Amino acid sequence: MKKLICMTDIHITDEGEDIIGLDPLARFCKARDAALEAHPDAEALILMGDLTHHGRVSQYQRFASELTDIPMPVIPMIGNHDRRDAFLEVFPNAPQTVDGHIQSILDLPMHRIITLDTLDGPPYPKWHHAGLLGEARLGWLKAALDGADGRIPLVFAHHPPFDTGIIGMDYIKLKDGPDLLAMLAQYENAHLFCGHVHRTISGRLNGVSWSMLKSTCHHGPLELKKPDPTLSLDEPGSYGLALLHESGVVFHSEDVGIEAEVQTDIGSLSG
Ligand SMILES: [Fe+2]
Repeated sequence: MKKLICMTDIHITDEGEDIIGLDPLARFCKARDAALEAHPDAEALILMGDLTHHGRVSQYQRFASELTDIPMPVIPMIGNHDRRDAFLEVFPNAPQTVDGHIQSILDLPMHRIITLDTLDGPPYPKWHHAGLLGEARLGWLKAALDGADGRIPLVFAHHPPFDTGIIGMDYIKLKDGPDLLAMLAQYENAHLFCGHVHRTISGRLNGVSWSMLKSTCHHGPLELKKPDPTLSLDEPGSYGLALLHESGVVFHSEDVGIEAEVQTDIGSLSG
């Protein structure tokens, strides 16, 4: 069965900078090593946005130096903490649309992998972290969906196009989310993957099934009342694994850095 490795909200900082005491680069390397050791035969590694914490060239350079030995195509996406011009300075060969958005299509035998650029800007006003697709990117997506030629569309967007109940993050979701959901609802087998909220969540809304993956670094609490998008937890980093079935997709979220051994509970079969 074909599979994809997914990682999101990597938030690489400059050397010496941490996030709630965590080193995002070390956390990413731990997730990368665990994922590649277990799944070296994956079709691609999808990096689902917020590659860096401040969108600085120096941060993309630190990140790029850790991507040199990946034995599969690497598909980078950008999120609200990224900046397109700085990203392209370090990743000049990243796929771009004619409008300069970082979007891509990867065709596998039964699936079409579509990655979207939900960064709103430039300009980038301070504290502005909501996402936007707009007409050009939605038009590009429609063409990508229509051209899938029977393949199951797996669509990746950094910002979720709906409320999750995590109120601080709901304020900075995808602004034109209803337009994205309405479009995806027209494609029966489409599945949407998001990051941004730093939690593993799943659901089906407006007829669209979706999965959300937590960060390789820091996580968001299940906070339904405080409207603060910066609340963070030190929980184990994670990567996602999408198993591509001929009728759809199964998505796993795997924590890394937990020193637990797999054990056999043979007694559970004898009772
Ligand atoms: Fe993030």
